[in-house]
Formats: sequence, structure tokens, C-alpha cells
Amino acid sequence: MNKITWATPLYEFLRQCNASPLNKIVLDCGAGGNLPPLSLFYQNGYKTCGIEIAQPALDESAIFCRENDMLLNIFRGDMRAIPFEDQFFSFAYSFNAIMFMTKPDIAIAMAEIKRVLKPGGLVYVNFESVDDPDDSVFCETAPAVDLLKSTRFAKHEDNEADEYFENFVILRKQKSWLEKLFNENILEQVNIEYIARKI
Ligand SMILES: C[S@@+](CC[C@H](N)C(=O)[O-])C[C@H]1O[C@@H](n2cnc3c(N)ncnc32)[C@H](O)[C@@H]1O
Repeated sequence: MNKITWATPLYEFLRQCNASPLNKIVLDCGAGGNLPPLSLFYQNGYKTCGIEIAQPALDESAIFCRENDMLLNIFRGDMRAIPFEDQFFSFAYSFNAIMFMTKPDIAIAMAEIKRVLKPGGLVYVNFESVDDPDDSVFCETAPAVDLLKSTRFAKHEDNEADEYFENFVILRKQKSWLEKLFNENILEQVNIEYIARKI
């Protein structure tokens, strides 16, 4: 049976990628974990690559790939220095990942994503909103503290992240307020997500 990803906003991104004339090759930045969203693209005929900075998340995605017989090509890498040449990918995304970094690092990662995208290529990224109620600091042992020198989620005003999309056409921008039951607690998430096409 096909695995259904919880990264449901990526279904809309997939729909837009499918409508593009570019070849089906996609990069996920922050691709690890036990249910890698790249499986959605793999199951839809894409050549997939993922980079992930944290070893535990890489280990989880390796188990997923083995158990589900999917070659997702997720390996250790940092989206602040994407190990691919310019214009290598038709499509790139970062789902629930970029907010773990500081704002200066987010700007670097966004420039890297732009660099590896072909002209006409599509990007999806979601950012955490200033309206997100989670203001807690990361615990000292969190990978983000050690690997990203980050202390808490980076938050953006409604239009603040627009500046990362210079030389892109923003095709879709959506702010969402989500409330869900997670580990028996109500979790609230307020995100601003973008789909954009590189000029
Ligand atoms: C909350 S997880 C989400 C994983 C996956 N995108 C998903 O939706 O299931 C965020 C992931 O982004 C990774 N990450 C954060 N900053 C990164 C960076 N600079 N380069 C690569 N991976 C990064 C983290 O290690 C973590 O595994």
C-alpha cells in the first residue's frame, strides 16, 4: 500500500510540479525522519534527493526506505551549503524544517535553494509565523542547538519572508492556523507557506 505523508501541503506542490514541463527531479531540504515526505514524490515517478543534517533523523529515514523498498537518496547534508551544482533540480522544497535555523541562516539556505533550481523550477517552503504560540527555547541537547546554533524557532511576520523570493514569482502564499491533537496535547501551529517559480 502507498504510504500517505503527513506533509499534506506538499500534495498541492506535487500538483503544480506535475503541471511543469521540467524533468521530474526533486530535492528535499531537511528530509529525514520516520515518514519522509519524499516518498510522495517517489511514488509519483520523481527522481528524489534529500539532505538532512541530523544523524538520528537520517537513521529513521534509512529504516523507512529499507522497510518500504524506496530509494529516496537521503544523505547527510546542510541546506546552508547544498552539495549540488547550480540549476541541478527542477523542484525543491523544505517542509517544517527551515524554522529550526536562525534568520541569517534561513537567508543563506534560501539563496542555496535558488541556486540549485533551474529557471522555471518550483519551490515550496513553509515558515513559522510570529502568531505561532510556541515560544519555548530548545532543550540543550536538541540537534538544532548543537548543529545550527539556534535556540528557538525563527518566526516571520506576514510579509517578511517575501524578501527571500527575489527573482521568483510567488504563485501561492498561504497562512494557516492548525490545531491538532499530538501526544494527547493540543498543538497549535501557525505557518506561512509559499510556492514560487524561479525566473
Ligand atoms: C521537524 S523535522 C521534519 C522532517 C521532514 N521534513 C518531515 O516533514 O517529516 C525537521 C528536519 O530538518 C532538519 N534540518 C534542520 N536544519 C537543517 C539544515 N540546515 N540542513 C539539513 N537539514 C536540516 C532537522 O535535522 C530535522 O530532521
